[in-house]
Amino acid sequence: MLRTGRNDVCWCGSGNKYKNCHLAFDQRLENYAIMGEEVPEHSMIKTPSQIQGIRHAGVINNQILDIVSENIKAGMSTEDINTLVHENTIRLGGIPAPLNFEGYPKSVCTSINEVVCHGIPDPKRIIKDGDIINVDVTTIVDGFYADASRMYCIGKVSPEAEKLVRVTKESVDLALKECKAWGHLGDIGAVISEYIYANGYTVVREIGGHGVGIAFHEEPWVSHIGTRGTDMLLVPGMIFTVEPMVNAGKADVVQDSKDGWTIYTTDNSLSAQWEYTILITEDGPEVLAR
Ligand code: MF3
Ligand code: CO
Ligand code: CO
Repeated sequence: MLRTGRNDVCWCGSGNKYKNCHLAFDQRLENYAIMGEEVPEHSMIKTPSQIQGIRHAGVINNQILDIVSENIKAGMSTEDINTLVHENTIRLGGIPAPLNFEGYPKSVCTSINEVVCHGIPDPKRIIKDGDIINVDVTTIVDGFYADASRMYCIGKVSPEAEKLVRVTKESVDLALKECKAWGHLGDIGAVISEYIYANGYTVVREIGGHGVGIAFHEEPWVSHIGTRGTDMLLVPGMIFTVEPMVNAGKADVVQDSKDGWTIYTTDNSLSAQWEYTILITEDGPEVLAR
């Protein structure tokens, strides 16, 4: 492959000469690669204009989740949440990414209690007092994607359920501290799994976070059980989600054979999840959607 010449325009789309833009950055990556580090491809490093677009998608995604936060309550169906997300997404100028994604039939995922993720909204599933529910919203704005989910404790939930929800959120906030430029992707899963295991819970292994922004699911895959100092180097311009699924019982999960989407805990224990979309910058992480 032909390398970018020093006086060519930079690959990042800034319009500047390569030598005045990403040349030093690329040399740094090359040196890390020579030292045996796994470095991201350029396709995993967003350009300034892509970052602007994804940041804006994040603002809209946050607004939609804020509307869910203000309205969700016992007595509503998960289909009502779907309607709320769908209508507000369109009103705010976005497209709900889940709708028709690989055949997914709705505009949002609603995962209650022992449902780990990818729960399909259903007019017959009424949200009850004592339920814990994850609402996972992904929005496309001007072609850019942002992805985040929040947990809700409906009415009076058991202290056990409340703790699971709180500890899961805390694990994401701890992981955020590891989202440093020139750190390792494995540090994220390491802090999450250490914190979760210390609280007596388990972490789902089969489903991870993912690069996001130009498409729904991009590289890299983000494991929530990792080893410090391993996996890909974190580089400014990378955007990915951290979205651990934490089970009160065993880690094992199973997919619903009838709908092909819903993921349950095999032992029917409670499961919680929080998801942020995170940008790596030289000055630390920027949460684009939460
Ligand atoms: N939003 C989920 C994630 O965090 C993916 C849902 S795929 C869908 O990656 F089709 F179920 F929407
Ligand atoms: Co995601
Ligand atoms: Co999501």
